[in-house]
Amino acid sequence: MFIAVEGGEGSGKSSLVRELRTEFGRQILVTREPGGSPYGETIRNAAIKDPLAKWAPPETTLCLMFAARFDHIHNLILPALDEGKPVVTDRFDGSSYAYQIYSQSGGSLEKLFWGLRSHLAVVPDLYIFVDVDPATGLRRAADRNQALIAGYDNFDDREVEFHTKVRDGYLEFLKKVSHEIIDANRPFEAVRMDFLDLIKEKLNL
Ligand code: TYD
Repeated sequence: MFIAVEGGEGSGKSSLVRELRTEFGRQILVTREPGGSPYGETIRNAAIKDPLAKWAPPETTLCLMFAARFDHIHNLILPALDEGKPVVTDRFDGSSYAYQIYSQSGGSLEKLFWGLRSHLAVVPDLYIFVDVDPATGLRRAADRNQALIAGYDNFDDREVEFHTKVRDGYLEFLKKVSHEIIDANRPFEAVRMDFLDLIKEKLNL
């Protein structure tokens, strides 16, 4: 079983995925995108950490995300699945669709996206979308960034409008894949419990 957890800024998605390590330890391979594999992490730095990423056209970002993804699948995800280990990734191609295709390029790269996707050796069996109202999410992300100034991310300073489009992009993508939606406009503990229950059910843990 291969599960992707997707969600916008401040949805709490990354905290939820972290909970999996505490709760299930090595029973699950927990990973993230962009990155995951060593070479994928190198590409991550170029794609989102380098300040120059801010000036890149969506084509560049899309190709970097897929470059990292092909490596991630080849060197980390497939070997784990072949061993019979379930894999949960914090973000996958739903993020490329929401950010690069829907929000950044207004749909003009749609064909390129599905073309690249058709070359992935494996795609998630299930997408879990951690859904938060964009304004609430941005407020949460701003609070977090004040506490963690080191984590520069070229998307964190964009406006609510951008994140509303990202959310619309996710909802569009979800129409085409198997998914579950978790309402993250609630206190973290309630969201956490729903999320862990869903993972337990899907992975028979
Ligand atoms: P990250 O620091 O991992 O933040 P988060 O906790 O929000 O996941 O940042 C990942 C950033 O990369 C996030 O802003 C979304 C972006 N991204 C894309 O634009 N396209 C993609 O395909 C992926 C995987 C991520």
